[in-house]
Amino acid sequence: MVYTVIVFRFDPEKDSKPCFQEFSVEAAPHERVLDALLRIQSEQDSTLAVRKSCGHGVCGSDAMLINGENRLACSTLLRQLHGNRIQVEPLPGAPVEKDLIVDTTMFWEKYQAVMPYFINNDPPPDRERLQSPAEHAIIEESTRCILCGACTHACPTSWSNQDYLGPAALLKSYRFIFDSRDQAGRARLDKVTTDKGIWKCYTVYNCVNACPKEIDITWHITRLKKAALGT
Ligand code: FES
Repeated sequence: MVYTVIVFRFDPEKDSKPCFQEFSVEAAPHERVLDALLRIQSEQDSTLAVRKSCGHGVCGSDAMLINGENRLACSTLLRQLHGNRIQVEPLPGAPVEKDLIVDTTMFWEKYQAVMPYFINNDPPPDRERLQSPAEHAIIEESTRCILCGACTHACPTSWSNQDYLGPAALLKSYRFIFDSRDQAGRARLDKVTTDKGIWKCYTVYNCVNACPKEIDITWHITRLKKAALGT
């Protein structure tokens, strides 16, 4: 089958403004959007910039806007897109480095701001710090996040407010606040109850729709709001 792939192109070092370029690509419907892009890159235009690593929905590096929705190119089959015209663009709301690659500096700064690491000052036990299955169940869904940024870059608050921590960072905060082994819950909550945090989530659910791991991020942010209110 021949697909028409319409690709956002922009090289800030050379171009005064972005444009779209169409490519015809022979591909099977069970192939992925990433396969089509890599075929364009290897057979038609080696200057096409696209970021990927694992190719299997683990590293989160190839999140992009595909037919108007933030998705992973490696986890989106061509046949899922209905029709043979596919438009691919960089994640919205982030500076474009080149073509489909965005500058993720701000995303990672917000991630760092919520202390995304385990804190427990008790002496380490001989083996691992144990957690019961019931305790783990409370955080299990939040641990599925692969930090692809699809959620944060689908969020209208993030688009309009550069200071907002965004869904991915807030989800990571939940992951540690509700971890039975972590001891920094109060300090973590203080980080997300500022005017850059949870109260700026207006439950639009774009983040939930964008998440390739089907995490109900809005539910987790709501749990943080309840924790902040002591309810
Ligand atoms: Fe790793 Fe898609 S390339 S998630």
